[in-house]
Amino acid sequence: TTIYRKDYTPPAYLVDTVELGFDLAPASTVVANRITLRRNPDAAGSDIVLHGEEIELVQLRLNGQLLGEGDYELSAATLTIRNAPAEVVLEIETVCAPVENTSLSGLYVSNGNFFTQCEAEGFRRITFFPDRPDVMAKYTVMLRANKEQYPVLLSNGNLIEQGDLDDGRHYAKWEDPFKKPSYLFALVAAKLVCQEEQFKLADGRDVLLQVWVEDGNLDKTDYAMQSLKNSIRWDEERFGLELDLDRFMIVAVGDFNMGAMENKGLNIFNTKFVLANPRTATDIDFAGIEAVVGHEYFHNWTGNRVTCRDWFQLSLKEGLTVFRDQEFSADMIGTDTGRAVTRIDQVRTLRQAQFPEDAGPMSHPVRPDSFVEINNFYTVTVYEKGAEVVRMYQTLLGRDGFRKGMDLYFDRHDGQAVACDDFRAAMADANGRDLTQFERWYSQAGTPVVTARTRYDAVKRNFDIILSQRGKPGQLPFHIPVAVGLLGADGKDLPLTLEHGKHAKGATTLVLELTEQEQIFRFREVDERPTPSILRDFSAPVILEHDYTDDELLHLFNHDSDPVNRWEAGQRLAMERLLKLTAQVAAHGAANLKLDQTFINAMRTVLSDESLDPAFRELALILPSETIIAEQMDVVDPQAIHTARQFMRHTIGTVLKAELLAQYHANQTPGEYSPDAASAGKRALKNLCLSYLLAAPEAAELQLAQQQFDNATNMTDRSAALVSLIHSGTDNGPHLQAFYDDFANEALVVDKWFAMQASAPTTNVAAVRKLMQHPAFTLKNPNRARSLIFNFTNANPSQFHAADGSAYEFWAEFVIKLDAINPQVAARLARAMDRWRRYAPALQAKMKQALEKVAARQLSNDVAEVITKALAN
Ligand code: ARG
Ligand code: ZN
Repeated sequence: TTIYRKDYTPPAYLVDTVELGFDLAPASTVVANRITLRRNPDAAGSDIVLHGEEIELVQLRLNGQLLGEGDYELSAATLTIRNAPAEVVLEIETVCAPVENTSLSGLYVSNGNFFTQCEAEGFRRITFFPDRPDVMAKYTVMLRANKEQYPVLLSNGNLIEQGDLDDGRHYAKWEDPFKKPSYLFALVAAKLVCQEEQFKLADGRDVLLQVWVEDGNLDKTDYAMQSLKNSIRWDEERFGLELDLDRFMIVAVGDFNMGAMENKGLNIFNTKFVLANPRTATDIDFAGIEAVVGHEYFHNWTGNRVTCRDWFQLSLKEGLTVFRDQEFSADMIGTDTGRAVTRIDQVRTLRQAQFPEDAGPMSHPVRPDSFVEINNFYTVTVYEKGAEVVRMYQTLLGRDGFRKGMDLYFDRHDGQAVACDDFRAAMADANGRDLTQFERWYSQAGTPVVTARTRYDAVKRNFDIILSQRGKPGQLPFHIPVAVGLLGADGKDLPLTLEHGKHAKGATTLVLELTEQEQIFRFREVDERPTPSILRDFSAPVILEHDYTDDELLHLFNHDSDPVNRWEAGQRLAMERLLKLTAQVAAHGAANLKLDQTFINAMRTVLSDESLDPAFRELALILPSETIIAEQMDVVDPQAIHTARQFMRHTIGTVLKAELLAQYHANQTPGEYSPDAASAGKRALKNLCLSYLLAAPEAAELQLAQQQFDNATNMTDRSAALVSLIHSGTDNGPHLQAFYDDFANEALVVDKWFAMQASAPTTNVAAVRKLMQHPAFTLKNPNRARSLIFNFTNANPSQFHAADGSAYEFWAEFVIKLDAINPQVAARLARAMDRWRRYAPALQAKMKQALEKVAARQLSNDVAEVITKALAN
């Protein structure tokens, strides 16, 4: 059944306190739950509705009275008590079976230890409760378990008591001083060890920080701990937000559906975002840990202290917290280009994943209007586009104005469950601005297209930029901040004078506010026809159309002071060529393809320009991905795209061999490994050079890669060498085996081993099926399933779209198999077919068959929603 945002009603009863008692055992855990409820003065009705799923009710008391079966209604999803008194104490005893819980939602067992995941609706799999985020209560938790097997007993807040019990058991009692919604509840009962530290907050208080992992992993917790300390400092300095607890814990677990979870005081993390040392983790892994540790920590204010009224408001906390973690990562690098490099990464993510989502069958506004299964809405739209929407406030209001809005938001709403509109109101009121129209970013789905035209009047010295916008049919205009600059013939920014605009004299970038369908912006005193740099820093999540000539793009690519648009000009140059080559391959085959000297020279110049940050050069040299190219085409031909892109890579690798080799050697990072941005940038450029060199390898290049593989002192260089070797299609058996043998005991590295094979263009579906027979493969562990299956379906388009449709059958088979184990993971895999209608008819027919095969099964809500929408739209 579909749930609608417009149907929201406040809960009839509020919960003041929750006392939970757990007797933990894998096959049968007993949960005693005592809650005090009172009628909500702001709501009608006297029925108490509790959610409950896959739990067995043992006993139920209301104000001390044992209830019989006639006193309540029990369905598969709810327990209802009608005509309840105004004040109620419920005592509920239930039983659940954590070891059988393969969905990893609720209370489950991973590698013999107990963990919970309650967001969004997992708490109801632990006990009966009004499991909705606008019910906030104070929790006390008593954990009891066997002491030898589960020496560590953790829950939210502060540890107030612990001790031994009979039968080899022990207990721990935890109290969370803050009111919270049930989705932030957590417990851990496990055999774990921790790295811990006392840390001084800005106000002088000492807090205890802990990172808990399995024995043997304490050599991989430093970076997470450092990232946590950096996060705490950053939130104090940038937003004046302080840690409100005496202890803050991070726990790593190998079986986890998502990245991590911000449970109050007890963050639970996928091991992927905690464990790292130079031997096992890449630069990208280190950056991911910093971002996710920051993200979960920042949720303590944006999510926990102020939470969501209902799940339609999810982006209230997620969009805002992603924006905060993005700013944190940028500030940690600290340089302007470093910041731009993080921004370019964000743009790539949007184009790779969010724009396609917004154009496909699962398209939804940042604040969805309806859903069948909320877990399907933890999307790039809610997270990443949501972060873009928050970033636009900062672009429109300035950093100080944004901070004022944040301060007002907390003044007004601390301790409350609120809506996206409340955040917007705080931003508007704190700055005396009308942001009514801005609401459309929350309510209208799809990626707006902004078209720019220009005209220059040499006599009057006016330069006009005419901006127009179009959304989906029937949509109203968005409020779009468009940052622009104008470049002179010398490549320098012109000082801007905007007619009717208030701005600082001499400004070289101005934020134009496009609010109507079409607007003219006139710049005065422009002495020469300039080259416009439009949408600087990607100031809005839109598609910008402008008829740039090659010369203008080259001018921007060589000179734009805005690194994001400088990069963007290169992407446009590359995309034009990729589309032409793709069309040529589709029509006439792969013979006689050509790449023009102009483009090659542009690449050569940027590659060899040592005044540019290596991290920027790497991004400037990467061609748009096959997925991003596909999004530009009306009818997608994955083989032709692959052939065209490989041809370009091959040509660059051949023609620029000398320069690539020179930069390969110039960007070595000898000495002790450090994941800092400057070193990581050098490695990224060096390894991109290597991958280009291996796009057309001769013996010398192969030897280079092999040497790097053999001599690497860190995982970044080691895995990059191996990926270059296997993705170039050169014989890889021995290297793959050596890599596996070295890291067979490191689960996260074994994931990489599967992933790099799954995404190799030489790996077909038969090879993937063979890899599934490997003893290390299992469908039950989400990281492992994703590493092999998702990397094939999502990162290997030319094989996934094999003409015979065999990979679509594979997809259907594993959506069905995974659905029986873990619906959330299965539903993510189901999304691989989102864009099926855009492929050539022969492929489309086979994709449809596969979708229908899945649709014919008995499915979870999660998968059913995705498949139904794919077939309907
Ligand atoms: N709130 C978490 C985060 O963004 C995500 C958890 C979502 N989990 C889920 N099963 N839907 O960090
Ligand atoms: Zn989050």
